[in-house]
Amino acid sequence: MLGTVIRNYDSKDSKEVLVLAEKYASWDTTPTEADLGGFWSSDPELFLVAEVDGKAVGFLVGRESRDMSDEVLRRRGATKAGSIETLAVDAQYRRRGIATDLLNKVFDLFRQRGVDYVSLAVPAEEEGARRLYEKLGFRERAYFLSRKL
Ligand SMILES: CC(C)(COP(=O)(O)OP(=O)(O)OC[C@H]1O[C@@H](n2cnc3c(N)ncnc32)[C@H](O)[C@@H]1OP(=O)(O)O)[C@@H](O)C(=O)NCCC(=O)NCCS
Repeated sequence: MLGTVIRNYDSKDSKEVLVLAEKYASWDTTPTEADLGGFWSSDPELFLVAEVDGKAVGFLVGRESRDMSDEVLRRRGATKAGSIETLAVDAQYRRRGIATDLLNKVFDLFRQRGVDYVSLAVPAEEEGARRLYEKLGFRERAYFLSRKL
């Protein structure tokens, strides 16, 4: 999107990103400031922020996954896996291509590292996110089920 800067997360973003995380990315757990610090220190290049007029209005955390065996990767026609851990865009800035820009940036970084397979989980109620990922070529592979006893 015009006027959006996609850049790496910086510790000075923590307050703004924490607000976004609490508001929009609190699915099973609400990310804490320590979680953000953990993402950053484990792989700073894959922690991205979308900035508009000096404000962080979206963020994405990617990860190189090492938990998929070579056998599973081979069956999927891939050699190296990555995942999208979390992605959120401020409601006031949606439908302007910001999530798409964040995802395309992380895909470029993944490709540079030889990552050729990307997976993620989407909360069932996030219809918009499902549409977004479908548009970008993702296909459903599983349903996570739960019930209250
Ligand atoms: C999902 C989310 C990140 C999308 O951010 P965004 O910046 O608005 O996404 P984009 O503008 O890049 O959308 C690209 C395309 O995805 C689809 N899309 C995105 N949001 C949609 C919605 N609410 N309804 C239908 N389609 C949607 C559209 O095809 C859209 O293209 P279009 O606007 O030209 O029609 C944002 O809605 C959000 O933060 N949601 C809450 C948190 C969440 O669900 N995170 C993802 C879980 S992993």
